[in-house]
Amino acid sequence: MENQQIKKMYEQAEDFMPLNGTDYVELYVSNARQAAHFYKSAMGFHSLAFSGLETGNKEFESYVVVQNKIRLVLSSPLRSGTEMGRHIDKHGDGVKVVALWVDDAASAYHEAVKRGAKSYMEPRVEEDAFGQVVRSGIHAYGEVVHIFVERKDYNGPFLPGYQAWETIYNPEPIGLEYIDHMVGNVGHNQMNKWVDFYKNVMGFAQILSFDDKDISTKYTALMSKVMSSGNGRVKFPINEPADGLKKSQVEEYLDFYEGEGVQHIAVATNNIIDTVTKLRERGVLFLEVPDSYYDSLTERVGKIEEELETLKNLRILVDRDDEGYLLQLFSKPVQSRPTLFFEIIQRKGATSFGKGNFKALFEALEREQELRGTL
Ligand code: FE2
Repeated sequence: MENQQIKKMYEQAEDFMPLNGTDYVELYVSNARQAAHFYKSAMGFHSLAFSGLETGNKEFESYVVVQNKIRLVLSSPLRSGTEMGRHIDKHGDGVKVVALWVDDAASAYHEAVKRGAKSYMEPRVEEDAFGQVVRSGIHAYGEVVHIFVERKDYNGPFLPGYQAWETIYNPEPIGLEYIDHMVGNVGHNQMNKWVDFYKNVMGFAQILSFDDKDISTKYTALMSKVMSSGNGRVKFPINEPADGLKKSQVEEYLDFYEGEGVQHIAVATNNIIDTVTKLRERGVLFLEVPDSYYDSLTERVGKIEEELETLKNLRILVDRDDEGYLLQLFSKPVQSRPTLFFEIIQRKGATSFGKGNFKALFEALEREQELRGTL
């Protein structure tokens, strides 16, 4: 897509709700303590903050891990019969909160609710010895919620109620910098509803769309539209399954997650070769594309700085758009259910999402689905 065109689309976004970026992502998981260890050991995050019995929280335990601008919160209930426990029973481990950093959490909430958002949490001031934070929240697709976080002169490790989590075990980071985008999977014929939600309720603009002709293989298909906040700092592609001969990966997700939810978190690196080398050394598994993908790569993307052989060894994918190219790679699901996974992405000018890789990728995904007997 032409530069001018994308710029125009950004201008269409009505920025009544300026977002400074993603504040944190909270996952409800069945064992937060072990999940935190995975994100540290395998993905290079460091201990940041903790809430649980030791901080007077008798309901749940949360570990917050950090790498550059990325904060993940891993939460588990401490007893049966909780809302968090119900969520985990239904969905398995998954993303509950996509928190957005704003200058005014009350105004963001009122603007969104005025435009039709369903309230999740009315604006509330949270306070401890380190200062004040204001948070509010609205419902999004499935059981995902957006929490608006306003931090003015807050000097604590994370949020009021959390204490610093200091451990001597903090493996070397692997160069993850920030969240590039987060993708939602929604049900049949639901994509446009959620595109409208992000447009009308949150003032996002649609910057790209793919239909089943772009993203289909012999068997399966999906449609996708990419929504972006006015300043481009927050991007949410929304997928819905399209009809194919067999069950699509989005349908498999919807079946196993038992509803709509976050499909993947794309995290950016400035050196994907180094990042993926380290991730592989630490046992993180990725989707594998066939050798043949690399036979036609140069022809498809032209000249790139990286050695083809290195990319092939690490199974890194490449795609090009009008503005440059990008390198990307997708992990296997990070929990028992074939639901949430991570994308590692390095942008070298490109502002798109790897459309040219979709077909190669889906064929790889289908090989995996075949192994699980869910194609
Ligand atoms: Fe992605």
